[in-house]
Amino acid sequence: GGVAVAAIVLGYLLGSIPFGLILTRAAGLGDIRSIGSGNIGATNVLRTGNKKLAAATLLLDALKATAAAVAGTYIAGPEAGLLAGLAAFLGHLFPVWIGFKGGKGVATYVGTLLGVAPLWVLVFAAVWLTVAFVSKYSSLSALVATLVIPVALWVMGEEKIALVMAIMTAVSWWRHETNIRRLLAGTEGKIGQKG
Ligand code: G3P
Repeated sequence: GGVAVAAIVLGYLLGSIPFGLILTRAAGLGDIRSIGSGNIGATNVLRTGNKKLAAATLLLDALKATAAAVAGTYIAGPEAGLLAGLAAFLGHLFPVWIGFKGGKGVATYVGTLLGVAPLWVLVFAAVWLTVAFVSKYSSLSALVATLVIPVALWVMGEEKIALVMAIMTAVSWWRHETNIRRLLAGTEGKIGQKG
């Protein structure tokens, strides 16, 4: 009903706050969209060389989705919480404030998981860190982790969460199109590498 719609709108608005853009601008680093990959996310903020700012971007981008999911669950139940998390993810990808040109949704993906099924963040983190340790590619780590999550959720009988995460996975993969091209061409930048 109306309360669930309010939770979804709140989720979108929270998700659309571009923390990477705001923090790098506040730190006097210029426009993050003209640095590295041009993305507004933590991986690209790390390319400025400021690790603390990258960590803060990851944390705030994740927690805005967690806040949306938790608030949605609290005011309208678990399904509304899940949809509010999805709305935050979509808000991050398509923020009204910056011409609907947002990020790739990895942090908001994890943040939603944290809000709706917190233990699964450990699975995501284990896969992400393993692929990152071996490959040094942030994008590849996210691509693999976001593929594992919905499959594993489905296998464990969490069908509703699996379905919503699968939607996020598909949209995030689509947003990683240029990363996938660079990975296949062998030209993708490694974690922390500038340019
Ligand atoms: O979180 C996005 C990451 O997977 C890729 O970021 O800046 O390398 O395109 P970027």
